[in-house]
Amino acid sequence: MCRPLCWTYASGVLAVLAARTDDTNPLSGLVVADRPEPDVPEGWRLVRVKAAALNHHDLWSLRGVGLRSDELPRILGMDAAGVDEDGNPVVVHAVIADPDAGRGDEVNDPRRSLLSERYDGTFAEHLVVPARNLLPKPDALDDVEAACLPTAWLTAYRMLLRSGARPGDTILVQGAGGGVSTAAIVLAGAMGFRVWVATRDAERGRRAANLGADAVFDRGERLPERVDAVLDSVGAATWGHSLRAVRPGGTVVVCGATSGDPSPVELNRIFYQQIRIVGVTMGSRDELAGLLAFCAARNIRPVIDRVLPLHQAIEGFAALEAGDVFGKIVFTIP
Ligand SMILES: NC(=O)c1ccc[n+]([C@@H]2O[C@H](COP(=O)([O-])OP(=O)(O)OC[C@H]3O[C@@H](n4cnc5c(N)ncnc54)[C@H](OP(=O)(O)O)[C@@H]3O)[C@@H](O)[C@H]2O)c1
Repeated sequence: MCRPLCWTYASGVLAVLAARTDDTNPLSGLVVADRPEPDVPEGWRLVRVKAAALNHHDLWSLRGVGLRSDELPRILGMDAAGVDEDGNPVVVHAVIADPDAGRGDEVNDPRRSLLSERYDGTFAEHLVVPARNLLPKPDALDDVEAACLPTAWLTAYRMLLRSGARPGDTILVQGAGGGVSTAAIVLAGAMGFRVWVATRDAERGRRAANLGADAVFDRGERLPERVDAVLDSVGAATWGHSLRAVRPGGTVVVCGATSGDPSPVELNRIFYQQIRIVGVTMGSRDELAGLLAFCAARNIRPVIDRVLPLHQAIEGFAALEAGDVFGKIVFTIP
């Protein structure tokens, strides 16, 4: 078990940061420390963070993916709910980008950055973000619940919106317990899809069924019929199954590759079966607003694995690295 390093500044804010990156031992670069109060650039707002959710992106950052060594130390974290300078409860959108530069979709801005990449992230008592990145928090969601939505849940929401599936169609979700998978299972059911789940673990499959999955299969198992769309966040371990599970003309939506890049990609199957492959990253501010409203209106609550105080973040990172998680891990700040 590796321990986080600690140091303190005279007057600062508690933060969890990447001090260095290490592909084989990512947690060795994790530091809990006091950092100086952030400056607030013009047009940006200061947020007092009350809850911040952990994502696999934070582990990738510690492995050096998307985080250059000359940008260290960098405060980690993409998801947050808190209070703005006027005392308004807010949810933070993690995509720092210009919609005009992305032809109306800020995620397509070539200069887009996600919180914790070029700008400090949400695992800190105080956070600064552009004013447009703050959305009102619905009363129906508490801080811990709202903090789960801006990354994994937003991505699952966009994956479903871009799946080409219509209500009543069947969606296969690869993986049962990941942040994206649990979000996809709950949201797909609420959107009127038939939801099938493929998992590597029977107990996790039972938990997926409790979330509302209509059927659960072993990883790689032949399905009773082909599905209209597959949502894949797992990568190498599931890609072949995803391509075999989707009907001719159906869609495989991919947002991540936790188990690595698939090889081979199987181009012959993709063109012969006319499979649409759609890549998704995060979602727009408008989509996050839609997701918040949808969850509030339909009484949808994110699946939460555990809640920890921010200074115990290492415990959450270790669980995520071990794959010992079902739903979101959330850090709180009193
Ligand atoms: N593009 C984006 O904007 C975006 C947004 C969010 C996440 N992501 C990416 O999507 C991926 C999923 O993220 P997540 O938050 O849902 O959490 P995660 O902890 O990476 O879990 C994802 C799923 O992968 C399965 N899994 C994990 N390790 C595996 C392995 N070695 N072999 C086979 N299956 C494995 C698990 O399935 P079981 O439950 O069946 O065990 C789990 O449900 C990550 O790589 C993340 O970086 C991308």
